Amino acid sequence: MSSRRIFRPLLAVLLIGAAGVYSAAQAQTQPKAPDTMEARVQGCTACHGSHGQGTDNDYFPRLAGKPADYLYNQLENFRAGRRKYPPMNYLVTYLSDDYLHQIATYFSQQRPPYPTPAAPTVSNSTLERGRNIVLNGDPSKNVPACAACHGKALTGMEPAIPGLVGLHADYISAQLGAWRSGSRHAIAPDCMHEIATRLTDDDVNAVAAWLAQQRAPQNPVPAPAKSLKTPLACGSEPQ
Ligand code: HEC
Ligand code: HEC
Repeated sequence: MSSRRIFRPLLAVLLIGAAGVYSAAQAQTQPKAPDTMEARVQGCTACHGSHGQGTDNDYFPRLAGKPADYLYNQLENFRAGRRKYPPMNYLVTYLSDDYLHQIATYFSQQRPPYPTPAAPTVSNSTLERGRNIVLNGDPSKNVPACAACHGKALTGMEPAIPGLVGLHADYISAQLGAWRSGSRHAIAPDCMHEIATRLTDDDVNAVAAWLAQQRAPQNPVPAPAKSLKTPLACGSEPQ
């Protein structure tokens, strides 16, 4: 990721942070701005979009519509250092559990439109390999179908499996890479670590490219809890 792509939003956050401190000092004397959720999450929207739809930057992920417990688990993962991205780690350090739950619920309920997928940059055979792994898995490597847990419509499952539509290929491959290298962890047993380490670089490239081409269904809500029987145990899912 080039520093220019990250610098602008980061600057916006630092300014918003500084403004927050300033207004806290003024709060005694000035009338308060309305304390709505929209106002509270303003520092997030520079990178994640005004309704959590993500931004054109290939790396800033969509939050909108992902299950609330999934989003909460990620905020908690950043706070505990199980995921590493310094602006995120910094932003959530001093936020309470209660506040993280409120933020997670807010973004899970947002329904902004999905972006139009970018034109693919890989060959048709790579896309076909990606489609095959996502929908059927790769039994020769013991890789289950991604759709077995993320749903056929790829909108995830309540309460804690995220949808995979509306994400950029770069973001998806970076996350799979982070699980393989051990810089992203989920609650144990970490099924995504198991799965990501069974994939080769080419597999990661193929699934990321195919997933990034998919369009959201008409009603892009996560599948109901327990409507899919997950082929591996995941610590984030109630058993
Ligand atoms: C400077 C840009 C930036 C700001 C500001 C920012 N984020 Fe993020 N956020 C990111 C990036 C980049 C990632 C992915 C990091 C990674 O894991 O590689 C991320 C990841 C996340 C995730 C996990 C998404 C997923 O699908 O797993 C959540 C939830 C999240 N951010 C919420 C927030 C909230 C809430 C705020 C405001 C308090 C916020 N972010 C502010 C850039 C930002
Ligand atoms: C056994 C169930 C299961 C299977 C099969 C599975 N996943 Fe996951 N996946 C999960 C869970 C649970 C999470 C949330 C982990 C966490 O809390 O960080 C997740 C998260 C992810 C994320 C992070 C999304 C984000 O917004 O950051 C990506 C990307 C992902 N999976 C891709 C895949 C791909 C590609 C496959 C197929 C090769 C796959 N998954 C197969 C359960 C599964």
